[in-house]
Amino acid sequence: MKPRSTKLVTILQGLYADEVRAEAQYRSHASTALRLGLPKLDAQFTERAVDESKHRDRLGARLALWGEGPLPFAKNPPATTGTETDVEPMLGAQLPLEMSAIEAYEAGILACLAAGDNDTRDLLAENLHDETDHVGEIETALGLIKRIGADNFEQAMM
Ligand SMILES: [Fe+2]
Ligand SMILES: [Fe+2]
Repeated sequence: MKPRSTKLVTILQGLYADEVRAEAQYRSHASTALRLGLPKLDAQFTERAVDESKHRDRLGARLALWGEGPLPFAKNPPATTGTETDVEPMLGAQLPLEMSAIEAYEAGILACLAAGDNDTRDLLAENLHDETDHVGEIETALGLIKRIGADNFEQAMM
């Protein structure tokens, strides 16, 4: 099946690369949280890494349906990510990636609407919904740290 517009292929390839990067960041931050003795935070970051991998797989499946694929890493190497070593810097690094994911998905949805591709629009909207939840979680965590301090944060986590 051909894509409605070749522009959509480029957009999904870009989103795919962002998802690979987001998953890598969360995996790295999860292991850092574990090393810091913060198992609940590790679990939350791991859960988000799994979400990002599902997003990536949805995008990959759609590209495959079109007879396309993601760009090879050689052409689009994932940026170094997840190098932060403490809780607040980790959350602070996650937030801009999530915000830019939301912007990229919103732009992708508009491109799908313009091309008349409602099915791909729904796929992007599903991913966008999770990114919005992720931003909410990060903002809640940062707010909690501000109120009670990073040292008490793990115990107060739900
Ligand atoms: Fe994602
Ligand atoms: Fe996300």
